[in-house]
Amino acid sequence: MRGKIFFIIIIFIFSNSDAQVKEIFEPPVKLSAKEDHARIMKLLGMESIRRGPSGNPEDSNYANVDESKASPYTSLPDPLIFNNGEKVTSSEMWLKKRRSEIVEEFEREIYGRLPSNIPKVNWEVTKVENSFIENIPVIKKHLLGKVDNSIYPLLNVEIKATLVVPQKIKEPVPIMIHLAFDLSLFPNFDLSKLPPDFYKWQSQLLNNGWGFVELIPTSFQEDNGGGLTNGIIGLCNLGKPRKLDDWGTLQAWAWGASKVLDYLETDKIVDARKVGIEGLSRYGKAALVTIAFDTRFAIGFIGSSGAAGAKLHRRIFGEQIENIASEYEYHWMCGNYIKYAGQLTANDLPVDSHELIALCAPRPIFIGVGSPEVEGNWIDAKGMFLAAVHAAPVYKLLGKKDLGVSEYPAMGTKLISGDIGFHQHFGGHTNAPNWETFLEFAKKYIE
Ligand code: GCU
Repeated sequence: MRGKIFFIIIIFIFSNSDAQVKEIFEPPVKLSAKEDHARIMKLLGMESIRRGPSGNPEDSNYANVDESKASPYTSLPDPLIFNNGEKVTSSEMWLKKRRSEIVEEFEREIYGRLPSNIPKVNWEVTKVENSFIENIPVIKKHLLGKVDNSIYPLLNVEIKATLVVPQKIKEPVPIMIHLAFDLSLFPNFDLSKLPPDFYKWQSQLLNNGWGFVELIPTSFQEDNGGGLTNGIIGLCNLGKPRKLDDWGTLQAWAWGASKVLDYLETDKIVDARKVGIEGLSRYGKAALVTIAFDTRFAIGFIGSSGAAGAKLHRRIFGEQIENIASEYEYHWMCGNYIKYAGQLTANDLPVDSHELIALCAPRPIFIGVGSPEVEGNWIDAKGMFLAAVHAAPVYKLLGKKDLGVSEYPAMGTKLISGDIGFHQHFGGHTNAPNWETFLEFAKKYIE
């Protein structure tokens, strides 16, 4: 009899588990980007926000592209001065104390903090195939990082990535993690319209003895302010909207790249001390955030990252802080960032992007961009170059070499003799033409 009752209770628990989950956990809050943006402005006590310039050269409010009006900033923070005014005079002072002051400010005011309750990711290799990339025999491992969602079972979060290595290897290979746009999100896009060199980087890496990972950032955090109560950010907040210093999408994407590196550290095919990160545009921003904060990354290729990436926030040229803080892009950042397009300005930021580059020191970092004639001026190539110039004192303090010049070079000049690299290629909004130069730069460190 007792056994029967126990059996009935067990059946009851299992048959009700779905209903119980719904009872205990409130469903994720649904807010559009516009509503969430307004909610943050209210939390910041903001009644209005300055509108950013247009990115369309035809518009009357087109962004400034006149160099003589570009740099009235007077307040570029010095990475080698502590918040209390004292000077950083040794590499130890930088690594042990000053670096963390700068990290704190980037996290609090710009990119947001990672929550303390991020659940564990369990990696599965879902399929292994032998195939070819441009006649090179490769092994492809399809990876799935399942995030433990027991804190909030209403959201399932999975990281999708593919590891590709040459079949013929003598020793563990170095890897570039490529942050990849998910082309399946554009079902009407005609793949034959992709430029012919779109995937060439893959064979370029393989021919140079590297493997690579294609990571899909939007698999675990969508690229939309209306998605902030979903994905990994939503999971950690149990479906509630963000606090003002909670992480934005760029930090979440960077976290995913770090989780991929955790997996790579367990795979014997890979030399996990030689893992780099690369991305273009919004993924160039995410790549820079990744390598700046996770010191395990050995090298970075930061393509056309522009505003909220490598370009100085304080520079008035191309895309501005007001654009990034708008309801279309604010989700990349933490809530606090929005106040710099309201009661404050870019000049009030406690840190600027040269210090984000400095956080990568002493590791090699390569900054790429295209030609203004083809790519446009929105990205602001010179704003990124200047940030690289102003990051140099930290590299030098750590015994590393700067760009070698401080004057903006002619397009096509390869600045790759130091540990900060810069190259403006002649193409458009793409990293494709720059892989060759990146590999030349990387060769000094990774064979
Ligand atoms: C927009 C945005 C940029 C971003 C770019 C992209 O142009 O304003 O900041 O880099 O999209 O990611 O393609």
